[in-house]
Amino acid sequence: MKRIAVLTSGGDSPGMNAAIRAVTRRAVWHSSEVLGVRHGYAGLIGDDFTPLTPRDVGRISHLGGTMLGSARCEEFRTERGIAQAMAALAARSIEGLVVIGGNGSQAGAHALSRLGFPVVGVASTIDNDLCGTEVTVGVDTALNIALEAIDRLKVTASSHHRAFLVEVMGRKCGYLGLMAGFAGGADAIVVPEIESDPETVAQELRDAYNRGKSHALVVVAEGATFNAEKLHAYFLEHRDRLQFELRVTKLGHVQRGGAPTAFDRVLASRLGAGAVDRLLAGERGILIGIQRGEITATPLADVVGKQKPLNAELFHLARSLAK
Ligand code: F6P
Repeated sequence: MKRIAVLTSGGDSPGMNAAIRAVTRRAVWHSSEVLGVRHGYAGLIGDDFTPLTPRDVGRISHLGGTMLGSARCEEFRTERGIAQAMAALAARSIEGLVVIGGNGSQAGAHALSRLGFPVVGVASTIDNDLCGTEVTVGVDTALNIALEAIDRLKVTASSHHRAFLVEVMGRKCGYLGLMAGFAGGADAIVVPEIESDPETVAQELRDAYNRGKSHALVVVAEGATFNAEKLHAYFLEHRDRLQFELRVTKLGHVQRGGAPTAFDRVLASRLGAGAVDRLLAGERGILIGIQRGEITATPLADVVGKQKPLNAELFHLARSLAK
C-alpha cells in the first residue's frame, strides 16, 4: 500500500498518541505514506486530513489525549455518512485505514470493512470492554489515576472515620471498577456484571467498621444498576436505619486525562506497529490486541457488539482480601 490513514475515535484514552506515532513510523519504515484524519470519523466524512511524517509524531508519546482529535460521530452511523467517508478515502488514494479506539469506533471500522475497505483496529479505550484483547490502550493509566484518588480519599476518610463512595467510568463494563476496588482495598465493589443491592453494600461497609477499620470504602462502576447517584439516594433515604452517611466522589473524565503510563506507551506502540504490519501484509477487518503477552488479531465480526466477560474470580478474591 502506498498510502494509509490513521484516526482516533470515541472517548480519548491515554496512549493514543503513542499509537499514532507507532502507526506513522512503522508505515514509513515500510515505505508507505501516512495521512492523519482529524476528529475521528467526522474528519473522514468532512475530508479533514493532515500528512504525518516521522518528525510530526515526535514528542507526543508521553502526552495524554490525541494529537489528531477525537469525536463521537452520529453521522457515521448513517449510510450516507459511510458513503461520504468512502468517497473521501478514494479521492485521497488512501488504500488502508487504522482505527484507534474502543467499541463504538471498532463498529465503525467494521462497517467500512464490510464494504470492502481494508481496515485494522487498535484496541484503545479506558473501559477495557473490547473482546479480542486482555487489555486496551489507556486502561492502565485510568486505573492508576483512579487508584491515586482512592489512596487520597482513604487518608481523609480515616481521619474522620467516614464512609466514602468512589465512582469510576467504564460504561457498561466493570473492569475499571473491579480493578480500582481491588487495588484500592475497597470494602465493597459494585459492577454491572454482578448483581448487588444497597443493603448488601451497607452491610459490607458496616462490617468494615466492625472489623476495626478506621474508614469504609465502596468503589462503584458507573454502569452498575446501583451507580453513585442511586446508592447515594438510597443511603440518604434510609439514613436513620442504616446509620450511614456516604461521601460521594465521581472521578469522571479526570480518569481520561493523564499522561500515559509506561505500560500504556509500550502497549500502544506494539499494537500500532502490529496494526500496520498486518494491514500492509494484506490482513483486514481485524482488531489488534494483546493476549498472553502476544500481539493478536481478532476478526472485527467477533469483537463488535460482544460483551467482554468480567473476571468473577478476581471479584471474589478482592472481597476476601478486604476482610
Ligand atoms: O468510553 C470511554 C468513556 O470515558 C466511558 O467510560 C464514559 O462512559 C464515556 O466515555 C463518557 O463519554 P463522553 O466523554 O462522551 O462524555
